[in-house]
Amino acid sequence: MDSNGDGIGDLGGIRRKLDYLQWLGVDAIWISPIYPSPMADFGYDISNYTDIDPIFGTVAEFDALLDDVHGRGMKLLLDYVPNHTSDRHPWFIDARASRSSQRRDWYIWRDPDPGGGPPNNWRANFGGSAWAWDKKTGQYYYHAFLREQPDLNWRNPQVQRAMLEVLRFWLDRGVDGFRVDVMHHLVKDTEFRDNPPNPDFRSGMSPYRELLTTYTVDLPEVQEIVAMMRAVIEEYDDRMLVGEIYLPVERLMAYYGASGRGAHLPFNFQLILLPWKAKEIAAAVGRYEALLPSYAWPNWVLGNHDKPRIVSRAGAAQARIAAMLLLTLRGTPTMYYGDEIGMRDVPIAPDQVQDPFEKNVPGLGLGRDPVRTPMQWSDVESAGFTSGTSWLPLADDFKTINVANLMQERSSILNLYHRLIQLRRKEPALSVGDYAAVPVGNDLIVLCENQRIADFWSRSISPDNHAASISASCRRRALSCGSQRTSIVSMSESRTSFSCVPTKA
Ligand code: GLC
Ligand code: CA
Repeated sequence: MDSNGDGIGDLGGIRRKLDYLQWLGVDAIWISPIYPSPMADFGYDISNYTDIDPIFGTVAEFDALLDDVHGRGMKLLLDYVPNHTSDRHPWFIDARASRSSQRRDWYIWRDPDPGGGPPNNWRANFGGSAWAWDKKTGQYYYHAFLREQPDLNWRNPQVQRAMLEVLRFWLDRGVDGFRVDVMHHLVKDTEFRDNPPNPDFRSGMSPYRELLTTYTVDLPEVQEIVAMMRAVIEEYDDRMLVGEIYLPVERLMAYYGASGRGAHLPFNFQLILLPWKAKEIAAAVGRYEALLPSYAWPNWVLGNHDKPRIVSRAGAAQARIAAMLLLTLRGTPTMYYGDEIGMRDVPIAPDQVQDPFEKNVPGLGLGRDPVRTPMQWSDVESAGFTSGTSWLPLADDFKTINVANLMQERSSILNLYHRLIQLRRKEPALSVGDYAAVPVGNDLIVLCENQRIADFWSRSISPDNHAASISASCRRRALSCGSQRTSIVSMSESRTSFSCVPTKA
C-alpha cells in the first residue's frame, strides 16, 4: 500500500496492513528491494546496500516496521541482490573510472574480441548481448540483466567481504533473513567460453534462451559463495536464507549445501513453471520429494513478481485447488500478494509499460507489469491502494475482487486461504507428515493425510457427483496409503472437486 500518495507502495503502507497479514496467517513477510536505486529494474539495481530509498521510506521507518512485525510474532525477510549492483553504485563508478581503479576488478571486464565486438556470445536475460561497451576505458563489462546492472566479480575476495558485510548490516538491525536474488548466477567461467546453443529453443521464447547457460550459471564454485553466506547467517540465532534459483530440481538440490550448510530454502518453482495438469504436478511432487536429501526441508512457490499469476495460468476455480495444494504439501509455502484474493494479470497498454524486460523484448508476454499492479484492498477509488495515481494501472475487476469484499464472503478464495493457513498451523501432519501419491486418473492428485484434514475438506467444499464417483473408485486404491483418510484434489479441466475417503474405519 502507498502511504504518502505518490502512487508507489512503501514501508508505511506495509505497516498499515500488518493487521491484515496477521489475520491471513502469514508467518514471514519477504519484501522486494527497498534500497536506494535508480529503479532501472525497480529496485534490483542497487546503488547503496545499506540504506532505504526515499521512495519507500527511511531507515527509521524500516526499524519501526521491523519492530511491529516482530511484535506480532511475524518475521521479515529482505531481498539481497548480490549478483549485480546499479551502474550508479559508487563501486562501479570507481571501477569504470580507469583500468587501474582500485575497484576495477570488482566487476567483470574483458577486451573486445579480435574483430572488435563483444568478447563472447553470452546473452543478457533482458535481451541482447550481456556485454556493454565502456568507451572511456576501452573494455566491455558483463551484465547478466540490464546494462545498468553490472555483475559483481564474486571471485574477488574484497567483493566477498564487502557483500557479506551487507548481510551483517541488516542482520544486526534484526532482519530474520534474506531472499537471495539469482543465487545461481554468482560465478562465471574464468575462460569465458561461448555458451552452446539450446536444442530446445522454440520461437516465441525469450531470445536469452537460444543459448544454454553452461558457462554463466550454476557453476560449481557458486556453492562456495552460498556456504559463505550461510556461515554469516549462522553467526546469528534463528535467521534464514532463501535462494531464488531457476534450475531443474535435480540441480536445485546442491543449493541446500553439503550436509545442509547452504540455503535453507532453494526456491522450488515447479508450481509456477509446470503446465497446470494434475499428472505433471503429481509427478513433480514425487520427483522433488525423492530428490530431497535427508537434511533438506522442502518448499513450494505458487507465485512471484516475475511470472504470470495462478488465476491467469489456470483459471479462478483452479486457483482454489492451487491454494489447497500449496498449503497441504509438506514444506514451506510461499504466496505472492494478491493471489489470495484471486487477482489476475492486468493487461498493460504499450504506453503504460514500465518493465524494462517488456521494453527490450516486447510482445512475447515476458513483461512483468501485469503481475505487479496495485493490491486490491477495497472498492473505493484506486482500490484503497493509493490516494494518488498508482504507478501501474489497476485491474478493472477491483470493485468485486478486493480484500474488504472477499472477507465478507464466507466461501471466497480469501477465506479459503485463511482457513487453510489456520488448518496448517493446527495440523503438524501438513508440515511434517508423510506424503504418498495414489494414482487414480489423469486429473487427480491424492494426498494421504489424517482425519481432521479430511473433515476440513468435506466441510469446505460441497462434494458433487463427480467427487462421489472418484471417492468410490479411489477408496480401493487408497488403501495402500495407510493413513486414516485420503484427500483428493481433482484438477479436471471442467470441474473442481474435492473428496475425502476413509481408508480405515
Ligand atoms: C530476479 C528478480 C527479478 C529481477 C532480476 C534481476 O529474477 O526476481 O525481478 O529483475 O532478478 O535482479
Ligand atoms: Ca508511496
